Formats: sequence, C-alpha cells, structure tokens
Amino acid sequence: MVRIRRFNPDKDLLDIAKLSNKALNEDYKLSMFVNVHEAWPDGFLIAESMGTYIGTVLAVITEPTVARILVLAVDEPYRQKGIAGQLLKSFIQRAVLRGIERLTLEVRISNVAAIRFYKKNRFEIVSTIPVYYRDGEDAYVIVRRL
Ligand SMILES: CC(C)(COP(=O)(O)OP(=O)(O)OC[C@H]1O[C@@H](n2cnc3c(N)ncnc32)[C@H](O)[C@@H]1OP(=O)(O)O)[C@@H](O)C(=O)NCCC(=O)NCCS
Repeated sequence: MVRIRRFNPDKDLLDIAKLSNKALNEDYKLSMFVNVHEAWPDGFLIAESMGTYIGTVLAVITEPTVARILVLAVDEPYRQKGIAGQLLKSFIQRAVLRGIERLTLEVRISNVAAIRFYKKNRFEIVSTIPVYYRDGEDAYVIVRRL
C-alpha cells in the first residue's frame, strides 16, 4: 500500500535527497530540500510503501497563484505503477486549497517518460528554453491550469 504524506525534514531528508538526486541525475544540496519545505510544507510530499521511500514531489510558489514543480521523482523499481500520478493528484488538491491556479515546470526535451506523463496529466508544452541544462540540453516549459 502506498501512502502519500507531507515531507518531514527530521525523518526524511537524507533519503528523499538521495532519491531525488539519483532519479534526476542532479546534485541538489540538502539545504534546498529544507528551504522548499519551510516555504510551503504542503508543496513537498513523499510516497512511501511499507517503510520504503518510493517517490517525491516538491514545488515552490513563484507568484501568488503559480507554483513551479522542482522535482517529481519515483524510484526506478516503482515506476509505471501510478505512483507519480498519485503524488501529483495529492499535490494538486493541496495546491488548489492554497489558491494556486497554474503549475509550471521544466523538463529535458529528451525525457520521453516525463513528457508523456505530463501530457497524460493535462500539462501542455508552451515553450522551449535553449541550452537550459549544464550539459547543453534544451528544456521544455510545461504548464497546467488547475
Ligand atoms: C516521470 C516519472 C516521475 C513518472 O513516474 P511513474 O510513477 O512511472 O508514472 P505513473 O506510473 O504515475 O504514470 C505512468 C504514465 O507516465 C508515462 N510514462 C511513465 N514512464 C514512461 C516510460 N518509461 N515511457 C513512456 N511513458 C512513460 C505514461 O504516460 C504512463 O501512462 P501509460 O503507460 O498509460 O501511457 C518517473 O519516470 C521518474 O521518476 N523519472 C525520473 C525523474 C524525472 O524525470 N522526473 C520528471 C522531471 S521533474
């Protein structure tokens, strides 16, 4: 059984940082996770199953009614089982209660799985940012109205 709950920095920080950095091939500092949680605790959720961390979503509020998803990640063995969908649903419920009207994020143009996931979940590609990532890859900007 999968449980979606708010991130708890005292308990979850190291595991969730590891899961996120591995899934996204990034090197986010621990302070980034702490700061995002402090700014909007309902915008940082985790999925766990029988005591194992299996996924996370975290976002920041960039304008009064706009949230930007920084990380949506599911650990590899648990992918394509609807976990990201559950995380997104729970996140959207909380975002709507917070008055958020639009979600935005960037994704690598080669990230076929994520692009399909977002399109399936009613996000739209609105623009491309050339050379967005450190390795020179372009990003799609993807948005969804809530
Ligand atoms: C993108 C990601 C979060 C999806 O998580 P997930 O739990 O596997 O997604 P779900 O099971 O909820 O959704 C499945 C849907 O997503 C899409 N999808 C997921 N993995 C896919 C893959 N490998 N190939 C193609 N489509 C894929 C499909 O639309 C699929 O639905 P369908 O099979 O009915 O077509 C996951 O692949 C991941 O963590 N990737 C690495 C991190 C990342 O790139 N995050 C996004 C950028 S922030």
